[in-house]
Amino acid sequence: MAHPTLAVVTGGAGFIGSHTVDKLIAAGHRVVVLDNFSTGKRANLAQHAQSDRLTIVECDVGHGIFAALAPVTAKYGPVERIVHLAAQVSVVSSVANPMTDMQINYGGTLHVLEYARASGVKKVVFASSAAVYGEVTTLPVAEDIHLQPMSPYGIDKLSSEYALDYYANVHGVPTTALRFFNVYGPRQDPTSPYSGVISIFSDRAKAGRPLLIFGDGGQTRDFVFVGDVVRAIVSALGDGNSRLIANVGTGQEISVKELARTIVELCGNKSPIQHAPARAGEILKSRARVDRLRDQLGVVAETKLVDGLRATLA
Ligand code: NAD
Ligand code: UD1
Repeated sequence: MAHPTLAVVTGGAGFIGSHTVDKLIAAGHRVVVLDNFSTGKRANLAQHAQSDRLTIVECDVGHGIFAALAPVTAKYGPVERIVHLAAQVSVVSSVANPMTDMQINYGGTLHVLEYARASGVKKVVFASSAAVYGEVTTLPVAEDIHLQPMSPYGIDKLSSEYALDYYANVHGVPTTALRFFNVYGPRQDPTSPYSGVISIFSDRAKAGRPLLIFGDGGQTRDFVFVGDVVRAIVSALGDGNSRLIANVGTGQEISVKELARTIVELCGNKSPIQHAPARAGEILKSRARVDRLRDQLGVVAETKLVDGLRATLA
């Protein structure tokens, strides 16, 4: 984006959101974080406490965003761009509580899109997920294969993509859906049993505690560093594309058991590796095809896993 813009980041106090805010503010944009702090933290944004370019609005994305944003637009003018990240992020939690998941994730997206339509927003970038694919037979997985989500979370993300497409097609709201694979990096919260595996393993390995693998550990994931994900978000926010759907991954996969071994090794201690039954609704293999990310958004996720893990452990 050549000119400073007013961007709303829903979920901006969370892991990916706070890194997105850092990047947008560093590039000179004005940012409004809209977050209900269910998992996000004010501490993730403390580095901007003195900045007059950040406004924090505490609000549920599914309730009253028009009223919550009105004082900000009265002061700074209309919202030009929205990064929609606010969500319940756990696949496991969505299996246990599908109705709550649907309300937050799909309902939240509809509220954001209604706001974008009514306010003439120039771009909405949405955090979709590799979970829309379900179990696939061909790797790396390309965006245009048949989609068969295996969890309520995957269904929400796919439904949200359809809603984005509808608002773009019928109401002229420019949209991009980014299908994040497994994002990791500093500030990913390890404290919940539903947290991302790298944050949990790192936290445990640093303390010399056991690492628990669900299933035999042969399941693979494409782990992508948060800095690379933020570059994709910012690129999508400023480009002229609409109705683009693109994977955001590295094109590489690693098994969970190899990941566990690598993290224990990097920590230089002797955390034991234990096993528990596999989780319901889980996919076994995951690896992104990344041509679209490179060709349409000009982004290559180049952070090597070992470098990203070192940054996370630090
Ligand atoms: P996170 O939990 O750190 O961030 C989510 C943020 O949304 C938090 O700040 C939380 O407080 C906020 N939030 C949740 N419900 C809300 C609501 N109803 N109203 C307002 N705010 C609300 O998780 P994250 O890993 O940063 O995920 C960000 C987005 O990326 C999510 O949409 C997630 O589904 C998606 N995603 C993440 C990954 C990953 O590996 N981390 C992979 C694919 C997609
Ligand atoms: C993750 C994201 C989800 C995203 C999806 C995209 C989180 C919490 N979830 O789901 O938002 O849409 O990627 O691909 O960030 N595991 C263990 N031990 C643990 C924790 C996990 O063995 O202590 C295993 C899991 O069984 C799974 C793998 O590690 O096989 C990854 O799990 P997790 O980090 O929860 O992510 P996903 O379910 O892939």
